Amino acid sequence: MKLVKLLANLGYGSRKEVQRLIRAGAITDDQGNVLDEGDFPPHATIRFRGDPLDPPFPLLLMLHKPDGYTCSADDPGATIFDLLPPRFALRNPLLSPVGRLDKDTTGLLLLTDDGQLLHKIIHPKSACLKVYRADLDRPLDGHEAGWFASGEMLLKSESKPLLPARLEAKGPKQALVTLHEGRYHQVRRMFAAAGNHVLALKRIAIGGLRLPDDLAEGEWRSLTADERAGIFSGSTAATRPLVPEE
Ligand code: URA
Repeated sequence: MKLVKLLANLGYGSRKEVQRLIRAGAITDDQGNVLDEGDFPPHATIRFRGDPLDPPFPLLLMLHKPDGYTCSADDPGATIFDLLPPRFALRNPLLSPVGRLDKDTTGLLLLTDDGQLLHKIIHPKSACLKVYRADLDRPLDGHEAGWFASGEMLLKSESKPLLPARLEAKGPKQALVTLHEGRYHQVRRMFAAAGNHVLALKRIAIGGLRLPDDLAEGEWRSLTADERAGIFSGSTAATRPLVPEE
């Protein structure tokens, strides 16, 4: 890939703007030698105004999503992209959230520009279960776990039953819910169907990857190689498969 295309795909500007940056000497190698359009040294040695370039494709980030941010760049108001470097919203291929969280849901959100990886994580048959902690308005009445696990639960205005889900009570008004799929407002609608109301919802794990304790709300970082592998392995009691894999 040519230098201009690489920089444009990383969001440093349009091709024309990147050409101007190159001609102005903003792109160097790690020895300070100015690069021109024909040069293409290894990614790790390229500098933009002295700083290392953003990571190349494929990018995989985790964000501790705070309350009040939507997951679509097109939404009005604060979006998760406001929490990331502005260039990340301009990358090609696009950086997308791996399954959306509601505006008022907090917790673990992955973002990637790798479409295949995204589908592998969100597909209902994937081994990657999503674990949510729900704080409830009313005490659990004990019938929810069986109903959620039945594979027969129908949400309002839907004709396809939900895949079996696991509910583990953590207190009278708190539960962990483990899902294979990610339908619109799914956890909130499941509790509404059970006559309850979710006051606060946090995603605490995706597959074997738990939201790290040291990642504060609003913070993001790239995944380590171990964390990336952990998405598809290391199932815990909360993440072991609910439905047989095909
Ligand atoms: N279920 C919901 O109701 N909301 C989310 O954001 C995620 C799962």
